[in-house]
Amino acid sequence: MKGFKTIAAYVFVVATLAAAQEPFEPLDFNVTEALFENGIDVTAIPDLAGLVIRSSLQGCSIACNSLKLVFGGSKVSSSPPVTYWSNQQSEVEPYCTFSPSSALEVSTLVLLARLTQCQFAVKSGGHAAFPGASSIEGGITVDLANMKERKLSADKKTIAVGPGNRWLDVYSFLTPYNLAVVGGRAASVGVGGLTLGGGISHHTNHYGLACDNIASYELVTASGVMISVSENSFPDLYWALRGGGNNFGIVTTFHYETLSQGLMFASKRNYAQDHVPALLDAFGNAVVGAERDTKLAHFVAVAYFSGMTIASTEFEYFTPFDVASPPEILKEYLGIPTLQASTRNMTLAETTPGLSETMPAGFRTTMWSQSFRLNVELMKRMSDLLFTNAPGIPCIAPSVTFQAFSKPALKAMQKKGGNALGLSPDDGPFFHALFYCSWTEAKDDKVVLKAAQNYINTSITFAKEMNAYNDYMYMPYSSPYQPVMSGYGADNVARLKAVSKKYDPSGVFHTLQPGYFKFDGAPYGTTI
Ligand SMILES: Cc1cc2nc3c(=O)[nH]c(=O)nc-3n(C[C@H](O)[C@H](O)[C@H](O)COP(=O)(O)OP(=O)(O)OC[C@H]3O[C@@H](n4cnc5c(N)ncnc54)[C@H](O)[C@@H]3O)c2cc1C
Ligand SMILES: *[C@@H]1O[C@H](CO)[C@@H](O)[C@H](O)[C@H]1NC(C)=O
Ligand SMILES: *[C@@H]1O[C@H](CO)[C@@H](O)[C@H](O)[C@H]1NC(C)=O
Ligand SMILES: *[C@@H]1O[C@H](CO)[C@@H](O)[C@H](O)[C@H]1NC(C)=O
Repeated sequence: MKGFKTIAAYVFVVATLAAAQEPFEPLDFNVTEALFENGIDVTAIPDLAGLVIRSSLQGCSIACNSLKLVFGGSKVSSSPPVTYWSNQQSEVEPYCTFSPSSALEVSTLVLLARLTQCQFAVKSGGHAAFPGASSIEGGITVDLANMKERKLSADKKTIAVGPGNRWLDVYSFLTPYNLAVVGGRAASVGVGGLTLGGGISHHTNHYGLACDNIASYELVTASGVMISVSENSFPDLYWALRGGGNNFGIVTTFHYETLSQGLMFASKRNYAQDHVPALLDAFGNAVVGAERDTKLAHFVAVAYFSGMTIASTEFEYFTPFDVASPPEILKEYLGIPTLQASTRNMTLAETTPGLSETMPAGFRTTMWSQSFRLNVELMKRMSDLLFTNAPGIPCIAPSVTFQAFSKPALKAMQKKGGNALGLSPDDGPFFHALFYCSWTEAKDDKVVLKAAQNYINTSITFAKEMNAYNDYMYMPYSSPYQPVMSGYGADNVARLKAVSKKYDPSGVFHTLQPGYFKFDGAPYGTTI
C-alpha cells in the first residue's frame, strides 16, 4: 500500500482551511478518513477493521501489527533502538520500534497511534539523558534514524536536514562548501532534540541558538497534516517550535540557514584546581567581552575524577590566529597556566568528536540545568560546592559546566519574532550551569539523583542570597525532576498552550506522546 497524497496537496488543503477561517483540525476530524487519504484503507487491515466499530483493547499490538502489514517487517522491530546515549533509555522496552523513512510514513504513524490510542515516543539522535525522553515502555518508539536527508538549497542559503542526522553528518556535508549552520558541538548528538530545545553552538554569541536560525520546519501535526512552518506561514507555531520541544508535532525536515565557516581556532585545556578562580574571572570578562567580539565560544568545567579535582576549558574562535597575538577577548584565558593543552586550527566537523568522547555513551546518566545572572563569585561558590560534594557521589566524574548566554546571544534570540525561552537581553547576561555525571549500577540511581538535585537546590539558595537567581532552565540539559517550562515564564506558557490547542486540539502530543517536558510541572515530579 502506498500513499497517494503529495505534500503539495497537503499544503493546498491547509491554505484552503486558513482562507475559510476554519479550525486547523475540524471538529468532526475523522482519523479513518485521514488514513484513507494517506493510502491506508483500514477496512482492508483485519485488526483495524474491527477497530472501526469497537474501540481499542490492545492498542499497541494492533498498531504495531498494522505498521508491519503496511510498511513491511524491515521498518518495524520488536526491540528498542540500539543507539541511545544513556543506558536508562536503552533499557526501556517498547511494544515495537517503527523506523519511518518519509514524512508521509510519519503522518500515518500519528494517525494509527490516534486510531488505536497507542502511546509513542520520538527519537532523533537519542541523546536525551533520562528514560522515557525518546523511548516508551510498551508503546511505539519512532526512530527517525532513516531520515537522513542533507540537501543545500540552490542559492546555498539554507540546508534541508532530516532528523536522522547527527551533527558530524551535517558539518561534514557542509565543510567542502566552507559553510556551517548554528548547531550542536558534539559529533553524535542528534539534530532533533537539540534544535527543538534551543541549541547551544560555537556560533551562539553571534547568531543565537540553533532554533533562532531556522528558515522553516517541515512538521507532521496531530491530524497527520504535513506543513511547512516559517515566520510567514504559521508564525505562532514557528515561535512555539523555537524552544517548545516535542509538544507541537514531529519535525521531518529542519531547514537551517547556512553561514560561512572555514577553519576555526580550537583549543581544549586542563588546569589544576587552584586556577579555578582565575578561570572564572576570565569567563566573566569574556562574557562581557562578547559585546565587542562575538566570535568566541568558551566554557569552563570543573570535575572530580578518581580522587582528583580538575578544571577544563574549550575555546573556539571563528577564524585562526597566531597564538602569539590572540584576539583581545582570549588574552586573559590563554594566560592561565595549563596542565595539558591541545590547540589546533580545525574545521567545525573536526571539533565535534571531542565532546562526544568526554561524555561517552553507554552509562547511566543524569543532567541538570539552571541559569543565573552572570556572577563570578556565585560560580566560585558553585565550583567549591562541587568539589566538596563530589567525593560522596557514586559517579565516575561529577562535574559542573559553566556556559554563558551573553547579551549579543540574547539579542540574536529576538530575531524573527523571538523564541519561546523567555530570556530577555535586558536581564542578561546570564550564565548557565550543567550538572552532569555518569555511573554504572542501577542501585546507585537514587543516591546520584538526590545528590544532583541537592547540588542544584543549594546553588539556587546561594544565588538567591546573592540576588543572581534566574528561573530559566535549558531543556536539553534538564532532568525530569525539573519543571522546565515554568522557567519560560507564565506568559510564554500560556502562549504555548494556546498554540498547542489550535494545532493539536485533542492533545495528541501530550496524552499519546507523554514523554519529555510538557507545559506543566516536571516530567517525574520534583520528589525523587
Ligand atoms: C555528549 C553530549 C553533548 C551535547 N552537546 C550539546 C551542545 O553542544 N549543545 C546543546 O545545546 N546541547 C547539547 N547536548 C544536549 C542535547 O541537545 C540533548 O541531549 C538533546 O536532547 C539531544 O538531541 P537528540 O535528538 O540526540 O535527542 P533525542 O533523545 O532523540 O530527543 C530529545 C527529545 O526531542 C524530541 N525530538 C527529537 N527529534 C524530534 C523531531 N524531529 N520532532 C519532534 N520531536 C523530536 C524527542 O521526542 C525527545 O523528547 C549534548 C548532550 C550530550 C549527551
Ligand atoms: C469515520 O469515517 C469512516 C469511513 O467513512 C466511518 O465509517 C466512521 O463511522 C467515521 N467515524 C466517525 C467517528 O465519524
Ligand atoms: C592557525 O592558523 C594561523 C593563521 O593562518 C597560524 O598563524 C597559526 O600558526 C595556526 N595555528 C596552529 C596551531 O597551527
Ligand atoms: C530540591 O527542591 C525541590 C523543589 O523545591 C524539592 O522538591 C526537593 O525535595 C529538594 N531536594 C533536595 C534533595 O534538596
